[in-house]
Amino acid sequence: MSFLNSILLWLHLGSLGLAGAATFGLPVVGAQLARAEPAGRAALGAVAMQITKLANLALAGLLVTGPIMVGTKFGGLGKLPDPAWFWAKMVLVVVLLGVIHMGRANAKKAMGGDGTAAARQPKFALAGIVVYLSVILCAVVSFG
Ligand code: HEM
Repeated sequence: MSFLNSILLWLHLGSLGLAGAATFGLPVVGAQLARAEPAGRAALGAVAMQITKLANLALAGLLVTGPIMVGTKFGGLGKLPDPAWFWAKMVLVVVLLGVIHMGRANAKKAMGGDGTAAARQPKFALAGIVVYLSVILCAVVSFG
């Protein structure tokens, strides 16, 4: 079981890295996109779509390996070393999913030419970064 847990943690942390690349990288691409000429906008839009697909993969990796480790490493929710921090992490994961969902809906509007949505997008990016880092803080305090 210990080797399986090592593999699961490896996948969890690999997904974490990929999620971080998207969390910090998408706002950079988005900022360039907002300033780009129409020709460059299509290319940058394709890059943003590609990073978004990788972010989906990263989220799936985190959401699948995390719950499995709760069972295989700790023996269930009732036996976690620091339940308060774990549940804080879970609440923040839900908040993060909400921010991502709203941010994507807003980005679609901005790509469609909605100027108010475009002006709002950096706030979603910042919220995503803050919540993502807060999830990691809770994870490290909980399991570190
Ligand atoms: C956005 C989603 C997530 C992020 C950013 C994240 C981040 C992290 C990080 C940074 C660690 C390493 C902590 C350390 O060892 O010091 C970790 C470990 C862990 N995470 Fe997550 N996690 C996420 C989702 C989840 C979910 C949904 C669950 C379970 C329901 C979960 C369960 C675990 C468990 C059990 C460990 C401990 C693994 C071990 O010590 O071997 N995670 N997570």
